[in-house]
Amino acid sequence: MNRRPALLQALPLLPYLERQLAERYDVQRLPAPGPERDAFLREHGAGFEGLVTSAAHGVTAAVINALPRLRVISSFGVGLDQLDLSAAAQRGIPVGYTPDVLNDCVADLAFGLLLAIGRRIPEGDRFVRAGRWSAQPPTPFPLGRQVSGAKLGILGLGRIGRTIARRASGFDMDVRYHSRRPVEGVAWQHEPQLLELARWCDFLVVITAGGPETKHLVDDSVLQALGTKGYLVNVSRGTVIDEKALVRALQEKRIGGAALDVFEREPHVPPELFTLDNVVVVPHIASATVQTRESMAQRVVDNLDAFFAGKPLPSAA
Ligand code: DGY
Repeated sequence: MNRRPALLQALPLLPYLERQLAERYDVQRLPAPGPERDAFLREHGAGFEGLVTSAAHGVTAAVINALPRLRVISSFGVGLDQLDLSAAAQRGIPVGYTPDVLNDCVADLAFGLLLAIGRRIPEGDRFVRAGRWSAQPPTPFPLGRQVSGAKLGILGLGRIGRTIARRASGFDMDVRYHSRRPVEGVAWQHEPQLLELARWCDFLVVITAGGPETKHLVDDSVLQALGTKGYLVNVSRGTVIDEKALVRALQEKRIGGAALDVFEREPHVPPELFTLDNVVVVPHIASATVQTRESMAQRVVDNLDAFFAGKPLPSAA
């Protein structure tokens, strides 16, 4: 019988994925950072040919370099900002990830957040639960911002950005986008200046990739340009927004509101946000549905299976 390749699993994964991996590979879990991990890598590091991680967990050069026989990395998720791709490239190690299968889910959540903040849905929910609707004398519930027909600015028109733009047609929204270069073959108007896009739009959805190149792209000046008429939605990475500047803008009510799936230091969310009604916060759930997470899990397995069958990875970074 052929020897099964040894895989190192960097974090707990969906039970469905763990089962699939265990059926095909000899899987061991990487201990948490610290002396136990160091001892484990010294003793067993040379045995692993594959590494499974996730977009959120990532992998450092130190871990890659502690695995001298590593031949492939398979990551659960689309983000690459936490993976040391150059350390992998230096060793010629291909990195698999899970694009495309989550486009719809992330676009759905972007619209969920946009509606939630614009139409004050979580705020309305809190209002009803607190008995304020039926209270005497009655307290009027503040009016929201109409979503249909509004101007939608999209920062980043990759695969997910384009899916969000297509969703917007169902709401009769006028769409423009900002990216470094215009995207070929799309009808939406490219705006070369992010500040201009922010000035123009009613909702600014951030869906550009994370990492050093986009760090704090949405800074105080962009928030100022968005102004009190504008709402910010982030389904990308917390690092794209200057979080301190955003907290101040929200506290001082200099923008209409913000709906955030991602934060600069997850799972830390600035506590100042918890008392503000012009904010919706959720715990990085853009791809978190049973259907999408299973498709992502399948892509993690497909990338590994293809590699060990001597074929190109279906989704290589
Ligand atoms: C992704 O796939 O990158 C998600 O944001 C999870 O990190």
